[in-house]
Amino acid sequence: MKLLFIGDVVGKPGREGLAAAMPGLRAEHVPDLVVANGENAAGGVGITEETAKSIFDAGVDVITLGNHTYRHKDVYGYLDSEQRIIRPANFHERNPGRGHTIVEAAGMRVAVINLSGQMHLQVERNPFPAIDDLLSSLAGAADAFIVDFHAELTSEKVAMGWHLDGRVAAVLGTHTHVPTADFRVLPGGTAHIADVGMTGSRAGVIGVKREQALRAFQTQMPVRFDGADEDVWIMGVAVEIGDDGLARGIDQILLPVSS
Ligand SMILES: [Fe+2]
Ligand SMILES: [Fe+2]
Repeated sequence: MKLLFIGDVVGKPGREGLAAAMPGLRAEHVPDLVVANGENAAGGVGITEETAKSIFDAGVDVITLGNHTYRHKDVYGYLDSEQRIIRPANFHERNPGRGHTIVEAAGMRVAVINLSGQMHLQVERNPFPAIDDLLSSLAGAADAFIVDFHAELTSEKVAMGWHLDGRVAAVLGTHTHVPTADFRVLPGGTAHIADVGMTGSRAGVIGVKREQALRAFQTQMPVRFDGADEDVWIMGVAVEIGDDGLARGIDQILLPVSS
């Protein structure tokens, strides 16, 4: 089974870049399952039903989220009703949405799980016991497990890779919007990368216009942020997963989107 996993799609430039890049990525990697993080899809922060649909229309099968999940109130009902969009499993159980979904890909039942780090991010539960409990409750329900670990610190992300090595097919980091170069298959058979990066403009500061981000850092005053839109790149990984539910290989994708 071939998984294509795409980092945080940021704003309209990210959504358009994703749609433009997908045919080429599909031809090159021939994915059976495409997962993209959509927490920045709507105006750079959060997601709406409309922006989620445009990501599905681009060829994405499952959308994962993160700390910006609940930015737009009118998406809450959609998070409850649409099975293919998930938010961190270690948010409060009664919050809108679900923490995992099970989809069929290449004849396998694949559980896609969204999990949030607890360092510098707000969660209801420590992600380490939370994922242990979730995997126990899903035992036998899926043939492979993929975890989007949406977290700030590389240390927490590397730790989660080791924590789940041999138990899931992939632990793929999102949230920082900056790709790391540590992609590999861990000894137990889990594909891991601390952060896959983002799908959006490299001309700014993790998606924001650079002059505005610079002014905020320089003056420490509130600054209105707009999305950067030039030099759009698509970033992610392609993971090959065997019938045993473990990874055979992982490749990094860092590509400028030609317009
Ligand atoms: Fe993000
Ligand atoms: Fe985030």
